[in-house]
Amino acid sequence: MDYKSVKFMPSDKMGDLINHDYKLLLVMSRFGLPLGFGDKTVEQVCREKEVNCPTFLAVANFIHEGNNLLEGNLSQISVRDLMDYLKQAHSYFLDFFLPSIRERLVQAISKSIHSEITYLILKFFDEYVAEVRRHMEYEEMNVFTYVDALLDGTPDSRYTISVFARRHNQIGMKLVELKNIILKYYPEQGNNNLLNAVLIDIFSCEEDLASHCKIEDFLLVPVVRQLEKKKGIL
Ligand SMILES: [Fe+2]
Ligand SMILES: [Fe+2]
Repeated sequence: MDYKSVKFMPSDKMGDLINHDYKLLLVMSRFGLPLGFGDKTVEQVCREKEVNCPTFLAVANFIHEGNNLLEGNLSQISVRDLMDYLKQAHSYFLDFFLPSIRERLVQAISKSIHSEITYLILKFFDEYVAEVRRHMEYEEMNVFTYVDALLDGTPDSRYTISVFARRHNQIGMKLVELKNIILKYYPEQGNNNLLNAVLIDIFSCEEDLASHCKIEDFLLVPVVRQLEKKKGIL
C-alpha cells in the first residue's frame, strides 16, 4: 500500500491504516471502533460495529491528509455518525485529555520555588480549558440539537448551520500565551523531563483541537447544508 498521497479505501486493512498514521487510533475510538481487529478491512470493522464506512473514511482521510479539501461524495456521509464522532471527541478533550494534562502539569511544576509562575501557568491553563468548554457546550446545545431536530424533521426555524459557520472560531489564543510562559519564562531547574512531556501533550492537544474544528467547518457544515437543502430549509 503506497500511502502518502493515496487515500485510505474501504478495502484497506485497518491495521495498515493505524500503522501508517497512529493519529487514526483516536478517530477509531471516537467512532466506537474497538482494537483487536485482526486482519479485517476498514469496511468489515465498520460493518461489524454499524458505523457508516464512508463517514469514517472521510474523517480518517481528512485528518491524515491534513488539508482543507474535502473530496468525494458528501451524500454518502452519515450526519448522525459524524455528529456522534464529534460528541465523542468533545468528551475525550473535556473529560479525559485536558484533565490528564492538568494533573501532570501540577506534578511537573508543583515543586517550583517560583510560585508566581506556577500560579500563572495554572491560571492560563484553566482559562484555556474554560474557553474550550464554552466552545464545545455551545456546539452541543445549539448546533447538535439543531441537527438532531433537522434529522427528525422538526428544526428550529431561527437557526441554520450558516449561523454556526459564521461564528465558529478556532480555540486557542490562551494556549499560545500559556506555552509562551512555559517556554520563555519557566526557570531552569533540574530535570525537566516531566514538564517537557506535558508540553508535548499540550502541543498535540492543540493540533488535535485544530483538526477537530476543521472537521466541523469542512465536513459537518457542508453535509448539514446539504440536508437543509433536501428539507427545503435553504
Ligand atoms: Fe466541536
Ligand atoms: Fe468547534
